[in-house]
Amino acid sequence: MHIAVTGGSGRLGRSVVRGLREAGLRVTSIDRTGSTDEQSVEADLTEPAQAAAILHKLRPDALVHLAAIAVPFSAPERTIFGVNTGMGFTVLEAAIEAGVTRILVASSPTVLGYGRPGWQPQSLPLDEHSEVQPHHAYALSKVVLEKMVSSFALAHPQTRLASFRPCYVVAPEEWQGAPTQQGHTIEERLASPELAAVSLFNYLDARDAASFVMAWLDADSAPSGRCYFVSAADVMAVTPPADLLSTYLPEIAHLSDQLSGNGSLFSIEAAAQDLGWAPTRSWRNQLPAAALERLGALTADPASTERTFH
Ligand SMILES: NC(=O)c1ccc[n+]([C@@H]2O[C@H](COP(=O)([O-])OP(=O)(O)OC[C@H]3O[C@@H](n4cnc5c(N)ncnc54)[C@H](O)[C@@H]3O)[C@@H](O)[C@H]2O)c1
Repeated sequence: MHIAVTGGSGRLGRSVVRGLREAGLRVTSIDRTGSTDEQSVEADLTEPAQAAAILHKLRPDALVHLAAIAVPFSAPERTIFGVNTGMGFTVLEAAIEAGVTRILVASSPTVLGYGRPGWQPQSLPLDEHSEVQPHHAYALSKVVLEKMVSSFALAHPQTRLASFRPCYVVAPEEWQGAPTQQGHTIEERLASPELAAVSLFNYLDARDAASFVMAWLDADSAPSGRCYFVSAADVMAVTPPADLLSTYLPEIAHLSDQLSGNGSLFSIEAAAQDLGWAPTRSWRNQLPAAALERLGALTADPASTERTFH
């Protein structure tokens, strides 16, 4: 199977490309940022003519669309919305035209709107039925992309499509101390819970994101047009989240009794049921022992990382 990955030079894309190649698949990265990799193509995918020409030439079996302005407020709001939605439509249209039969598109958990003062989910853990409440252009662009995916799925039944919401992506080198996308290290993120509280302690090892992509590509009987949360099984916190809400997220602390253990606040049941996918990496099995010791997490009961919602 030949897979084209847009945004393959990015934080998430590099691990997805590597993971798919390690699984023996032929992968071509398409990115605006060049790569020395001979199986990469440099292109600006906001340009319809470029997108159409490349996909027509490559004619991949599957397309994984990751390219985006990936950080909220990193450009003017109008630019983020325009680039992400415009490029999404351009890439999807070109892929359908080129005969691609599987298309997977990156959305974001931020569609739910957490981080806004007064934000209230109806229940925890959050899942694909939780209300979307975007409050900035990045999140809104991802809501539109999800709708675009379900719309293309209706219009093109010969192609299987889905979107996915990867949680805060941790690249492999970040477990060893490389800075995360917000500049601090993972150990600092765990030592200062306010850093991860703004995103509800969510995270995902980039290699588990790659295994999700492979599971979705393989799942020929999975329904088209769906959206999936993709998260680590546990929270990025040393202390169980139910004990942290009153201090760091007081507006949703009344939902603490809906949580137990160290399970993620984002349900991955849909991906488990449709695709048989489950993450295998946790900060508890990825951080070096010295870092776990400094965090006082070395003696933690491994069973406490299991998802124990009620
Ligand atoms: N990193 C996260 O924690 C996270 C969380 C949720 C969702 N996502 C989504 O996952 C995807 C990948 O995120 P990331 O963290 O790897 O971002 P990133 O910024 O590291 O990578 C994005 C890549 O897209 C490329 N790109 C941007 N505009 C392009 C264009 N016009 N033409 C061609 N390529 C273009 C960039 O050059 C870059 O290599 C994005 O859609 C992002 O919104 C990421």
